[in-house]
Amino acid sequence: MEITWSPRYDTGIRIIDEQHQELFGIVDRLRRMIEEGAARNAVEALLGDLLACSERHFATEETYMSKFSYPDFPQHVSEHASMLTSLQELQAGFQESHQSMTLMVSTFMVGWLKHHISDGDLGFVTFLKAHNLA
Ligand SMILES: [Fe+2]
Ligand SMILES: [Fe+2]
Repeated sequence: MEITWSPRYDTGIRIIDEQHQELFGIVDRLRRMIEEGAARNAVEALLGDLLACSERHFATEETYMSKFSYPDFPQHVSEHASMLTSLQELQAGFQESHQSMTLMVSTFMVGWLKHHISDGDLGFVTFLKAHNLA
């Protein structure tokens, strides 16, 4: 199963689309690492990249949302926060069980990304566009 960004996740805001593509790319690399039985420290490094990239991306979106007083800002931010918490928990669990945790991270991220982009991000982008803000 290839994990790829698709045009249906297109928000029309370049920086956000690029960051989403980057996140999909990292998750797909993680998936490949599992299949190829990559070394533990390589997977750990990529997990660190995934966390850093997610944090950066959420900060970008949150800047947009707060700048333009997006009404669902608190709800959206709490989804970001809970995703980071889950990712940190998965990362901690990875120390104990390498293979199964990597699989979980990959599965979790794909589900989360697809759901969050479709239900959350496209909502705030629609808001920005409706107000001629993006
Ligand atoms: Fe978001
Ligand atoms: Fe996003």
